Amino acid sequence: MEENLKKIKEKVESQIIKIENLDGLDRIRSEVLGKKGELTQILKNLKNYSEEERPIVGKRVNELRKSIIEKMENKKEELKKEELMIKMKNQEKIDFSFPVDENLGSLHPITIVQREVEDLFRTMGFHVEDGNEVETEYNNFEAVNVPKYHPARDMQDTFWLENGQLLKTQTSAAQNKIMRKYGAPVKAIFPGRCFRNEDLDASHENTFFQLEGMMIDEDVSIANLIYFMKTTLSEIFKKDLKVRLRPGFFPFVEPGFELDVSCMYCGGKGCKVCKHGGWIELCPCGMIHPRVLEMGGIDTEKYSGFAFGLGLSRLAMMKYGIDDLRVLNSGDLRNLKQIGIQ
Ligand code: DAH
Repeated sequence: MEENLKKIKEKVESQIIKIENLDGLDRIRSEVLGKKGELTQILKNLKNYSEEERPIVGKRVNELRKSIIEKMENKKEELKKEELMIKMKNQEKIDFSFPVDENLGSLHPITIVQREVEDLFRTMGFHVEDGNEVETEYNNFEAVNVPKYHPARDMQDTFWLENGQLLKTQTSAAQNKIMRKYGAPVKAIFPGRCFRNEDLDASHENTFFQLEGMMIDEDVSIANLIYFMKTTLSEIFKKDLKVRLRPGFFPFVEPGFELDVSCMYCGGKGCKVCKHGGWIELCPCGMIHPRVLEMGGIDTEKYSGFAFGLGLSRLAMMKYGIDDLRVLNSGDLRNLKQIGIQ
């Protein structure tokens, strides 16, 4: 009997080692453990053994059965892993005869314009800084001279978070941090996504992009501001644009301005885009309010500075002739095709 079981054990174990797929395992299972399997047969014929032998044989057969099942389970895991590896390998194969997908994608219009502006300002010695999208009330409002309960807060319907923080309503929110990081003198631009609770229409979105700039040094004047803006915007639109300033109110600048550029479409003669006025309002700006400089730890006896808030979404729309702001956040690739950048 022992001999017989030993033979079965050796035979089955060598078969399991050689097996190459899950089907082979099933076959052995039924040959050995199935209804007509060798081990099952021995159990069925237990009656042929003496009463003393019966429990011993039964025990030996069950032990062998258990060890065979365990070996088969291990082999099964091994085979599954192998199959997976083979599948993965096949998927990795590159089929060079496959037709090329012409829809390769492109950068978003805002990213394109943002990078262009960044490159221009870098050549003029500006740092490019990053800002947070979730901001503190202090950075977004107080540090830029908009105290609690100031009516200017109403101009920006803010998304407040439950923890008292907010979604940045303006890139100006990074001014204070940058002043504290670099001190004076400093030249930096900081693009970013901003959020306001707007009723959506062709020129209002709850999510839009601005690019803020700041230059603080000794003897900085409005003339510097005009130079930088004229140079940058002319480069972007590949035209020599004229700029003009009108008074504008923003709590963080004094004096504050609206900077207009001569219409890049009609050259100032008047057209649909500039609403026949010849000018386009593009960039609010001004000389940084002394209180804002002080909150940023800057010595106002020695330093002054300008700041501007360029509407990046607006700029992208003008550059690509997009007439609905919502297109920019739609994620619809057909729009990119239409404006010729895909
Ligand atoms: N933060 C202002 C806004 O979102 C835009 C702005 C105006 C930024 C004047 C400036 C500035 O830096 O000087 O409405």
